[in-house]
Amino acid sequence: MTPPNHILITGASGGLGGALARQYAAPSRSLLLWGRDAARLEGVAAACRAAGARVVIRMLDLSDSGAAISALDEDDATNAIDLAIFAAGLGDTRAPGALVEDAAQVARLALVDFVAPAALAAALADRMARRGGGGIVLIGSAAAFHALPFAAGYAGSKAGLARFAEALRIGVKPHGVRVTLVSPGFIDTAAARRTPGPKPFLMRPADAAARIARAAARGQAHAILPWPFVWLRWFDRLLPRALRDRLLLSLTPPEV
Ligand SMILES: NC(=O)c1ccc[n+]([C@@H]2O[C@H](COP(=O)([O-])OP(=O)(O)OC[C@H]3O[C@@H](n4cnc5c(N)ncnc54)[C@H](OP(=O)(O)O)[C@@H]3O)[C@@H](O)[C@H]2O)c1
Repeated sequence: MTPPNHILITGASGGLGGALARQYAAPSRSLLLWGRDAARLEGVAAACRAAGARVVIRMLDLSDSGAAISALDEDDATNAIDLAIFAAGLGDTRAPGALVEDAAQVARLALVDFVAPAALAAALADRMARRGGGGIVLIGSAAAFHALPFAAGYAGSKAGLARFAEALRIGVKPHGVRVTLVSPGFIDTAAARRTPGPKPFLMRPADAAARIARAAARGQAHAILPWPFVWLRWFDRLLPRALRDRLLLSLTPPEV
């Protein structure tokens, strides 16, 4: 597969997205970096320019999926995107003492973690299929495979994204478009630090970005990282429901 030259990364102002931008920054590359926080986005853009990449930044709120699709159409029409990594996302757990997550927050999670990446990936996959190729990476979460009672909105949105990614991958593969779902465990970013509880097998953002770039280059269908989360997924699937429910309840961090 030819290395991608024109790359879109959403969530580039964040921990993982910023590491991905740095991972791909090189003299032959043109990076399109999306985010909301201007200062952090400019910081990442400056580091990528110092590594020789051409960089264009765009500030937008992905909870407005209509505006995001228009922005994508505009950016792709200006310069055809070879690889898009949809890394923007919101993490959340229910508020301390609450029985369930706040309804408005569940709606926000669904918009940012499912609606926006799915709609953008659909729009871009269609454009890529018409020109005969491209790569799309959707950053999900290992949480998609576990019914976390303290983060139902997050786990549910990421589970939706995982199923969407699989279906999209199968549909567009014959047209030369590779779709990769990435399901990380814990990555040491601001979002992870805001989440209470232990974080086993915590990855450095740069290591996660390197793994993701390898998976994208191979056109891997699904990358679960790091590897213990592959076993956890099977463990969850094989455990009898009553036992699994008790275990998941007992995993609820004490702060939540
Ligand atoms: N860190 C982990 O342990 C972990 C584990 C599994 C999966 N993930 C996934 O990895 C991805 C990156 O997370 P991270 O750890 O790098 O978190 P992060 O450092 O908090 O970065 C999140 C990024 O998403 C952007 N974002 C959030 N809401 C947005 C919105 N409404 N519109 C536009 N952009 C928005 C943020 O933009 P601004 O900062 O500019 O607002 C930021 O660039 C997410 O999809 C997350 O679910 C992370």
